[in-house]
Amino acid sequence: MNYIKAFAPATVANVACGFDIFGFALDQPGDIVELRKLDQPGVIIKDIIGDDGRLPREPERNAVTVVMLKFLEHIGATQGVEVILHKNMPLGSGMGSSSASSVVGIFAINELFGRPLTQTQLLPFAMEGERIACGAAHADNVGPALLGGFVVIRSYAPLDVFKVKVPDELYCTLVHPDVEVNTKDARYILRNEVSLKNTISQMGNVAGLIAGLMQEDYDLVSRSMVDVIIEPVRSILIPEFDHVKQAALNSGALGCSISGAGPSMFALSRGQETASRVAQAMSEAFGSVGITTKSYVSQINQQGPKILETA
Ligand code: HSE
Repeated sequence: MNYIKAFAPATVANVACGFDIFGFALDQPGDIVELRKLDQPGVIIKDIIGDDGRLPREPERNAVTVVMLKFLEHIGATQGVEVILHKNMPLGSGMGSSSASSVVGIFAINELFGRPLTQTQLLPFAMEGERIACGAAHADNVGPALLGGFVVIRSYAPLDVFKVKVPDELYCTLVHPDVEVNTKDARYILRNEVSLKNTISQMGNVAGLIAGLMQEDYDLVSRSMVDVIIEPVRSILIPEFDHVKQAALNSGALGCSISGAGPSMFALSRGQETASRVAQAMSEAFGSVGITTKSYVSQINQQGPKILETA
């Protein structure tokens, strides 16, 4: 194989109560990378499309190519790659934009070089991409983008990641308002201490959400989509947050919260029809104060990254 074109999906991290430990993958949107093998070692960025020129063009500074350089060094490759990255979602959107890029990069290069590493072995490489993109090597976006499905990060040291089965009728509505929130800033404003009272509430909801998903108990999922620690602090960065959340709940969503570090908001619903109605209501709520949105309705993507073309 000399050429590969691959896709990795957007993700919703945190999923209300699971800050840095829960995330799931969507069918769309996602980033695409094209790689061509070079005879000489190293990584060359040929083009980045769709980022309005904002991402670094130097391979040592761009998260996607840094993960590739680390991979090539790890396998002791004598050949290199030329990279074209297609960014299909905005930066700082809360949709796992940087993760989709890191994941598609590491997935594609591993395939191009004959798959020397397993999908799980690729995870620490993709996490390194997150450190470069937003200052923290959290895995709740790269985990699901790479492994597909609903992913739990049980522990970071040592890394312990597993997937949770979700009900077939579970749909996600993701709404991206046209405002930008920098993940670094959204992490910086968080408090370092949490009260015992809030810890107890959050643990109850974390347990309830997982049990609800596994037992297909939609009411339990709904009752558990409560975040008493992060959402109250970060929601101030999102204009009309309360109004949009209420609009989602009034339209039948099981729950609604911030997607990742925001400003995107997500809702979970039972059935596609409800999820579409929720998308409309959330977009109208943002629209009532003149904020334009883009919305997506998707099941939980179980596959993660995929090959689009090879030659
Ligand atoms: N768990 C991370 C955060 C996800 O909330 O900061 C960032 O997309």
